[in-house]
Formats: sequence, structure tokens, C-alpha cells
Amino acid sequence: FCYNKSNDYSLPVVGGSNVNDDKVKAAQMAVELIPNQAIVGLGSGSTASIFIDLLAKKAHEEQMDITCVATSVQTSQLALGFGLKVVDIDAVDRIDVTVDGADEVDGNLNGIKGGGAALLFEKIVATNSTKNIWVVDSSKQHQRLGSYRLPVEVVKFGVHHVFNYLKTRDLKPVYRQQEDGNYLTTDSGNYIIDVDITGQEDLPQLAKDLKALTGVVEHGLFIDICDVLLVGNTGQAIYKD
Ligand code: 5RP
Repeated sequence: FCYNKSNDYSLPVVGGSNVNDDKVKAAQMAVELIPNQAIVGLGSGSTASIFIDLLAKKAHEEQMDITCVATSVQTSQLALGFGLKVVDIDAVDRIDVTVDGADEVDGNLNGIKGGGAALLFEKIVATNSTKNIWVVDSSKQHQRLGSYRLPVEVVKFGVHHVFNYLKTRDLKPVYRQQEDGNYLTTDSGNYIIDVDITGQEDLPQLAKDLKALTGVVEHGLFIDICDVLLVGNTGQAIYKD
């Protein structure tokens, strides 16, 4: 096992908190919850990346036997680069715990994910995990979901028809674009359409409607998936009822 050191996350003892420190704190709390011999789902995004680095460090220092499953190509490469053992999801018969970030989370630990376009693999890994831990800074906590646009992953074939339908549902769809102006393509070869859910009263129903739409592969509403929310700035661990 070879840990390739990249970052020093020791936090300043005094001084103001910033979002990055809060992400580090949440990631540090999550690492403490990973037991030896665990099969760990690795989320995607900046907070999950800090967790991955810290997990690799801990596994190396404590000679832990950790097997990982990744939620994106980027995460897989990152974890392998830190010396973690990463296997295909179908090579394991269980995932003990997954640690991931979130774009937005409410008081019931429901959330929006997919800001990094990894929502499909994230949801597959999460729904096959015994326990899901989300690591966030408090800017992600909202009473009601919707300040963040909801990502919807759609197959390329016929995508404009799905887009037009979403318009008729008053979801104000926009295609997610790359910097060069082309539509972003996910790890699964699909497009992302981001929608505005501020006018939607019944989010569980919206989740069902989106899922039932032909051409939609997945959406970023994660309902009843997160078990534990770790909030960096407050140091809080909030458990699902
Ligand atoms: C990627 C995700 C991320 O978890 C989410 O975007 C949060 O990322 P960050 O930790 O960088 O704020 O859902 O698809």
C-alpha cells in the first residue's frame, strides 16, 4: 500500500473559518467513522475529494485494509493516485458505507446532488450502501430544497423532446454546458438538464414523475438516502430519524 501524500489538512487553531476549512472538518469527522476492513463508497466533488485524501492517509498510517468503490471516473483516478484500492462496483457484494458531498440538504436529510454531474453513479452506489454519510459545510443546509437547480440526467437520443416537456412542467430547464459551449457529457455518455424546482410543492412526486419519464436516466433528488449528515463548521453530526 503506497500513500501518495498531497495535502496537509491541519486546521489553524485560531482564525476565521472558511468554506474550505469547513469541508476539511466534515471530511475529518467522516474518516473517524470508517472501520478497518470496510468497503467504502467514495463520493465525488471537492468535499468528497478531501475525504478520499484523508482516508488514504489514515489507511496508510493505521495499516487498514480498505476497499473502495468510486462514483465517478475522476474519483476513481484520485483515489488510485492516493494509493487506495479501488474496485468495480460489481466486484463487491456489499458497500458498508459511502461518504459523499451534497449541493443542498434539508432538515430531513433529503438533498440535491449532481453538481459535479456524477449523480447517476452516486445514486447507484448510495442505494447499494448500508450507510450513507454526507459531508457538507453549513452553506448547503436549507429549510427547503430548491435554491440549487436540480440536475436531471437524460440520454442524448431525443433529448430536446425531454427538454421541451420539462418546459411545459414549468421547470425552466437549461442544458448544462462545458466551458467550450458544448453540452456536458456525463461518465455514462448522457446530458444533464438542470431544472428549477422552486415552484414544486411535492418533491417526492416530482422525483417519481421525473424517474418515469422516458429518456430520463436519473435525477439528483436524493430522498431518504442520507443516514448521517456531518456539518464541518458546527461540528454537528445529524442522524436521520
Ligand atoms: C457531484 C455531487 C457533489 O457531491 C456535490 O456537487 C457537492 O460537491 P462539493 O463537495 O464540491 O460542494 O453531487 O455530482
